[in-house]
Parts: sequence; C-alpha cells; structure tokens
Amino acid sequence: MGKPKVVLGVSGGIAAYKACELLRRLTESGHDVRVVPTAASLNFVGEATWAALSGNPASTEVWETVHEVPHVRIGQSADLVIVAPATADMLAKAAHGLADDLLTNTLLTARCPVVFAPAMHTEMWEHPATQENVATLRRRGALVIEPAVGRLTGKDTGKGRLPDPEEIFEVCRGVLARGVTEPDLVGRHVVISAGGTREPLDPVRFLGNRSSGKQGYALARTAVARGARVTLVAANTALADPAGVDVVGVGTAVQLREAVLKAAADADAVVMAAAVADFRPAEYAGGKIKKKDGQDPAPVALVRNPDVLAEISADRPRDGQVVVGFAAETDDVLANGRAKLRRKGCDLLVVNEVGEAKTFGSEENEAVVLASDGSELPVPYGPKEALADVIWDQVAHRLPARRA
Ligand code: CTP
Repeated sequence: MGKPKVVLGVSGGIAAYKACELLRRLTESGHDVRVVPTAASLNFVGEATWAALSGNPASTEVWETVHEVPHVRIGQSADLVIVAPATADMLAKAAHGLADDLLTNTLLTARCPVVFAPAMHTEMWEHPATQENVATLRRRGALVIEPAVGRLTGKDTGKGRLPDPEEIFEVCRGVLARGVTEPDLVGRHVVISAGGTREPLDPVRFLGNRSSGKQGYALARTAVARGARVTLVAANTALADPAGVDVVGVGTAVQLREAVLKAAADADAVVMAAAVADFRPAEYAGGKIKKKDGQDPAPVALVRNPDVLAEISADRPRDGQVVVGFAAETDDVLANGRAKLRRKGCDLLVVNEVGEAKTFGSEENEAVVLASDGSELPVPYGPKEALADVIWDQVAHRLPARRA
C-alpha cells in the first residue's frame, strides 16, 4: 500500500503560516501531501515553501500542467482533503460549489473525507452567512472544526483562531484512521470529563490522584474527528486543548459536577473519564497548616463528594442520553466492573486495570467495555484513541435517531 494521499488546501489568511507546521507533521508521519494554495494565500506563504516542504509541486491554477487534468485528478485520488486555514470566502465558495481555481475544483471532485479548519475574525465567523455556509458543508458530510478562542491578528481576541497545527494533525489522523467518508456524530453534542480532581486541604496542599487526562482527551479528539460538538470538562490536566473542543477547566469534584451538569443539559452523550475524588477534606484551612513540634499531626476528616456519574445516570438531563462511566480497578477487575455498572446505573462502563505503571499517564490502554444489556467487549492493548473510537461506536448505535 502506498502512502496515504493528502491534499492540503491553503486559503488566504494570516494563519497560512501555521499550515507549514501541519504540512511538516503530515509528511513526517508518512503522508504524501499535495499542497493546493489559493492565489491570495501566496501573499502569506509562497509557492517555494510549499513545494520544498511537501516535495511536490504546489499550483494554484487549473491552467498549469493542463495535460495532467489536475483539477480532476488531485481531488479524485486524495484520501483526505484538509483546508487549513479556511477563510470565510473559501467556506462560501465550497458551500456554493464555485470552482474558479485549483482548490475549489479539487473540493468538487474529492470523494474522500474533507476537513475544513476555519480561521477568521470573530465577526466574520459569527456572521449568519458564514454560519449558514458551515451548516451546509456539515450537512453534506464535511468536517468543519470549530475555531479556537484566543488572540487574533492585531489586538483582537475572540473565537476565530486556527487551532494548533499539531491538534489539526490529530483530527486528520483520526479521520484517516477510521477511513469513513461521513462523520457519524454530526449534529451531536458530547460531554467528556477528563483528568483528576484535587480537593484542597489548605492553600498549598490537596488530595489528588494520578490521572493524566489522556484517555479523556483522546475521547475528545476522536469525537471531533467524527463530527461531534464537544465539551471537555478538564480537571487539572497539562495537555494542549484539542482542536475544535470547548474546554472548561475545573479543580474540585464539586466544580466538575457543576460544569458537567451545565454542559449535559443538551448533550446526547456524557462520558465520565475523569478520576473524581470520592471524598474531600471536611474543612479547608484558609492558611497553610503548620506542623507543631512535639505534636502528632491532626487526622484529616473527610466528607463524601457527590457521585456525578450516578446522579446523571439516575436523572438524565436529556431523554435518550447515553451515559458512559469508567472504572479503574486493581483486583477482580471484571467482577468489580459488573457490580459498579449496576450500582452507577450508566449504559456503558469502561473497565481497566490500573497500577502504578499501568494506564496512568501512558499513551496506551486496554479495557473491557461492559454494557447494561449484558454485552462485554474486550478492547486489546493499543492507543487510547483506538479505545476511544470503540467507545464512540458503542455510544453511536445506542443514540436515538437525530432530532430534526
Ligand atoms: N465518578 C463520579 N463521581 C464521583 C466518583 C466517581 O462521577 N464522586 C465517576 C468516575 O468519573 C468514573 C466512575 O464514576 O466514571 C467510576 O469511579 P470510581 O471511583 O472508580 O468508582 P467508585 O464508585 O468510587 O468505586 P470505588 O472507589 O469503590 O472503586
């Protein structure tokens, strides 16, 4: 099998420079990339850069190498088309099927997955014309990544930033890995909790756990690659925001509960991948707790935290919502998992065995997905993204038909 063929479309926005990094990631990970810039984008990054970084010619026009019929061939033979940055003008052209240069022609001839990573000023992104174009593209099966919030060109900040190239690359990888043209979670809102809560004892100390958040972030990335709108409630993680994800940072279990319940109100699925502390210190010392010479330390009294998974499972914020829990076990993994599934009342419980060197902080995971209908699906040791895709497969076929 040859290298996967990726078309990188670049339209005329300042974020075009970030596409150089995306291109480098794609080529270094074994993709054959053909860059198709628009004429306007060459004001930001020149043809020579694209040709040198991709090892392929980079043309903007259909009138070059006409005998090779590039306007048809490039799109037809692609395994993935990613347009980054996609300007408001490019989204409008794509939504309306215009074909006045090589990139727009390529978009019409491509039969593979097409991903747009828009970047523009907030006003342009929020304009009803742009929003309708985005909706049209999504309806037709394209994946349009929500822009990030942050610094824009000039002094402005707001929604419209191109997500980090590394994270756009992850979306591309996710789409290529599934090898399916149509994203199956389009129109769905999913809420994922990730990381580990910290329960403060005093201003400098807390009770915490070893969760890195990687499995939750893998779930967020794969859900974006499958077209979902994603809210990620992240407790004390040190990971880059995945592209297209609305990240809500929290610290404690009580904060996590509030953020998850708020986001879950209109969610199709809630996945509780976070390690939530079951207990918190009964009292918070406003000042640093000091040791006293000759005195034993005072015992730390704990109180129960709310069980968010059990609460959502028992009282679903939305009809037909699919609720997924995780269980980290050290002994009698399956028996404990089955009992926990019943106790929590969720639809799916992802059970994995943990130990000091196992699962926490690693890139790989192994699990069994237990379902309330009694089915049990073992997922072999592999990347956390692969487990995430199995979980979404299980969620997707339990979701009720999309509301009109
Ligand atoms: N969970 C939660 N709220 C809590 C504790 C846990 O929502 N206060 C969720 C976790 O996000 C996870 C699942 O419940 O999806 C399993 O958590 P775990 O701590 O393993 O289960 P417990 O019920 O606390 O069982 P035990 O500690 O006895 O193993």
